[in-house]
Amino acid sequence: MRDQKAAFAAAASTVVGQPAEDVASLIEYPPQRDLGDLALPCFRFAKTLRMSPQDIAARIAQALEGRPEFASAAVVGGYVNVKVAREHAATMAVRQIRADFEAFISRQRLRGHRAAIDYSSPNIAKPFGVGHLRSTMIGQSIVRLLQMDGCETVGINHLGDWGTQFGKNIAAYLKWGDEETVRRDPVRELLKLYVRFHEEAKVDPTLDEEGRAWFKKLEDGDPQAVALWQWFIDESRKVFDQTYEMLGVKFDYYLGESFYNDKMQPVVDELRERGLLTVSEGAEVVDLSAWNMPPCIIVKSDGATIYATRDLAAALYRHDVLGADRLIYVVGAEQSLHFAQVFKVLELMDRPWAKDCRHVAFGMMKYNGERLSTRRGKVVYLEDVLQQAISEARKIIEAKNPSLPDKEAVAKAVGVGAVVFNDLKNYRMHDVDFRFEDVLNFDGETGPYVQYTHARACSVLRKAADQGCALPEEVHFTEVGDLEWAVIHQLNQANEVLERAVDELDPSLIARFTLDLCHTFNRFYHDVPVLGADTEAVRMQRLALVDACRIAIARTLYLLGLEAPERM
Ligand code: ARG
Repeated sequence: MRDQKAAFAAAASTVVGQPAEDVASLIEYPPQRDLGDLALPCFRFAKTLRMSPQDIAARIAQALEGRPEFASAAVVGGYVNVKVAREHAATMAVRQIRADFEAFISRQRLRGHRAAIDYSSPNIAKPFGVGHLRSTMIGQSIVRLLQMDGCETVGINHLGDWGTQFGKNIAAYLKWGDEETVRRDPVRELLKLYVRFHEEAKVDPTLDEEGRAWFKKLEDGDPQAVALWQWFIDESRKVFDQTYEMLGVKFDYYLGESFYNDKMQPVVDELRERGLLTVSEGAEVVDLSAWNMPPCIIVKSDGATIYATRDLAAALYRHDVLGADRLIYVVGAEQSLHFAQVFKVLELMDRPWAKDCRHVAFGMMKYNGERLSTRRGKVVYLEDVLQQAISEARKIIEAKNPSLPDKEAVAKAVGVGAVVFNDLKNYRMHDVDFRFEDVLNFDGETGPYVQYTHARACSVLRKAADQGCALPEEVHFTEVGDLEWAVIHQLNQANEVLERAVDELDPSLIARFTLDLCHTFNRFYHDVPVLGADTEAVRMQRLALVDACRIAIARTLYLLGLEAPERM
């Protein structure tokens, strides 16, 4: 409704003498649709204009007369309620969507900005946890949302590739490991060795000594230690990359924690020079008690890896070297305090951009109603979840449409899409429950349902083409029934939804939008004949509407990180 709102606001602005933009921000969607499509409350102007809201509303209604965008304007209480001219709105929206969906949905508000988005960021030699899965999918969607609004993006995988753990990994591997087994299944095997190391260290404390000694060697650049560590990284990355490949996820940079090994000293020095460091129990910390936070540890008493210091160095790198003016971290809610501390320290270091750092937190994922946790040994491997989703999707497709060409690719798109959509459709802070039957239900609020709706739109257009019907670029709407209008009305909210999703870094708004669009589209498709329309002109209008929906669904699926197969 961006264009209609703008036209409404422009006319009202001449009456109330305030900038059209301010007026536009007051325009509402009336709760009951029979009241109109848009409403402007006039109470706020009464004082300055010294007129009753009703009189102001009446003047605005008058000013709207004769404008092509509106069919009627009525005064109800202190409101102007307008009904949009359906034919005009349909013609405009469908034309714009079919010509250039990007221009339709986006005002490119973030042009000239560059955001660094930290997402996925799993740990080497550990399973890719469900938290990392959520981070990957939410992060990927945020990257696309920001791009859609004109932002340049730098996607960063902040791999956990450093820490005392690697000393233990090396020690364990040298004791019990074997190259072949690790190569075959690196992450699981390394985890097994690591767990065994912990078990045995309980009875044999010298093991911990050994682990520490190996980490020290690694820090000192011992060739054997470095080679093994690098090998663990390479092997783990291969496994992670398979998952990314399945999800269609990409990064601009893999900059693991170790990348900042030589970039932390300047941070420590600066903090010291600024007098921000105090000593507490042998550690050097930034005192944050004035902000009701525990101190941010910068240098531990034993000098070992410090997660926060690395993040400070990484933030400076992302801003100063990669040129990002907004830093976004897609990481589970359990790290909220960590990021609050890091952002506060950046602020204390006088970095004005600290206020543009965002921690995009999210809740847990439950699997068949149960909480997942790596610690209690309940590891659910993401590759397994995706593989199972794909094979379930394959079964459904086999039953529904056995002659489908390209079945394997569709099964992958649907299976993976089901997992991704299920994750993104609820507000990210809410916990996600995951059940195969639910996420793959073609009639539920699911990825497959949306993809199926898209395929249905494609199929109608294919049939039309087969019947020799060529859809012209421009279609003029002369008849818009209620069900068609519901679709147009939904399409016309795309821009506002995108902007809200970008402002709130919340992909679920797009998922909800797409679901609503599919519902209205399916109601229209079910009740209104498209190919069987009475006249050629009406048939073209309905086909053009189907085409606009096809594009809008495909592009919003893209924003969420899903594929949109043309046949299912
Ligand atoms: N590797 C960390 C973990 O698994 C997540 C890293 C998030 N990014 C960051 N810049 N701290 O918990």
